[in-house]
Amino acid sequence: MTKVAIYPGTFDPVTHGHTEIIHRARSLFDRVIVAVAKSRGKAPVFTLEERVSLIERVLGDLPGVEVCGFNILLTDFSRQKNATIIVRGLRMVSDFEYEFQLASMNRHLAPDIETVFLTPAEHYSHLSSSLVREISGLGGDVSQFVHPVVVSALQEKSKWR
Ligand code: COA
Repeated sequence: MTKVAIYPGTFDPVTHGHTEIIHRARSLFDRVIVAVAKSRGKAPVFTLEERVSLIERVLGDLPGVEVCGFNILLTDFSRQKNATIIVRGLRMVSDFEYEFQLASMNRHLAPDIETVFLTPAEHYSHLSSSLVREISGLGGDVSQFVHPVVVSALQEKSKWR
C-alpha cells in the first residue's frame, strides 16, 4: 500500500531545516505532501502563494514530493490527500509540549492518522523561520540557513518594509 505522508507548517520562509526533514521523510514514505498552512494568526511575511512557490523552487523536481497550500483543518486536508501520516520536526525539548498538544488533538480529530516526529540534524536544531527573518531584516547573512532563492526573496521583502 502506498504510504502518503503530509508535512505541514507555515514555512515563512522555508529553511534548510525544513528541506532536510522533507528529504528524510521522502526516504521513509512513498509520497510526501508539503502542506503550507495559511496561518493567518501568525501574520506571515510571505503570502501563501509566495511560500508555496519558494518551496517548489528550493526543492526543484523532487520525485514523490508535492507542495500545496491549505486553509482548512489539517486532518481534513490530510484525508483529502489520502495521507495517513503527519510528519513534524522536533528540534528541541521546548518544541515538545506544543507538538504533543498538536499531535494529541489531531489524533482526537482523526484517530486513523498517525503523527511521526523526525529530529533535524544538530546544526539545524536552533533554526527557525522567525530568526531567519529577523537576521535578514537587520542586514545579517542567512545564506547558511536558507536556499539562495529564499535569501533573494527576503532581501526583496525587506526593501518594502
Ligand atoms: N527546521 C527549522 N525550523 C523549523 C523546523 C525545522 N525542521 N521545524 C519547525 N521549525 C520552525 C518553523 O520555522 C517555525 O518557526 P517560527 O515560529 O519562528 O516561524 C516554528 O518552528 C514552528 O512552525 P511550523 O513548523 O511552521 O509550525 P506552525 O506551528 O506554524 O504550524 C500547523 C502548525 C500549520 C501544523 C498547525 O497550525 C495546523 O495544523 N494548522 C492547520 C489548522 C488546524 O488543523 N488546526 C488545528 C490543529 S490541532
